[in-house]
Amino acid sequence: MKEIYNRRSIRKYKDRPIEKEKIEELLRAAMQAPSASDQQSWEFIVVENKKTLGKLSLMNSYSKFVADSAATIVILGNSNKFKVATSWEGDMGAATENILLEATYLELGSVWLGIATDDAATDYIKKTFDLPENIKPFALVSVGYPDNEKNEFIDRFDEKKIHYEDYK
Ligand SMILES: Cc1cc2nc3c(=O)[nH]c(=O)nc-3n(C[C@H](O)[C@H](O)[C@H](O)COP(=O)(O)O)c2cc1C
Repeated sequence: MKEIYNRRSIRKYKDRPIEKEKIEELLRAAMQAPSASDQQSWEFIVVENKKTLGKLSLMNSYSKFVADSAATIVILGNSNKFKVATSWEGDMGAATENILLEATYLELGSVWLGIATDDAATDYIKKTFDLPENIKPFALVSVGYPDNEKNEFIDRFDEKKIHYEDYK
């Protein structure tokens, strides 16, 4: 599947909106992800409003480019839906990667921005959207048509990281 190999984090975007159908495709891809006990506890906020994108870009020092994205998707876990609470971050990670791969397929650029392991970013996003206690921010994915950056293959295969039958 070429999207796995060609996907790159793209942080420069054209000033061009993303078609509604493409945003829906990204969300459809997210919701096809596997999840523990099929809990599907994900929810999403799609942000296209420039003012809100500006606010999201101030989440931390790694999120500046979010201001220039055409859309940023906030990926959330709803703890009221958890059946296997310890697995929610794994589930969200699978959904997030699906969004990145679908974005690559749709010739969009995207980046995963972590939230869940960063208490300050978590608080910032909770406050920005006035989220209830059961709604847990996991990540942002910023998306846009790439500008001077492109999805292209980098070979990361490393035989030294593979162990057969035993660790040695
Ligand atoms: C859990 C996670 C958190 C990340 N957080 C950020 C972030 O906050 N800001 C950012 O610009 N990139 C972020 N990235 C993207 C990584 O920097 C990027 O994937 C890595 O440098 C490899 O480059 P590639 O995505 O082009 O293969 C994150 C990626 C992951 C998986």
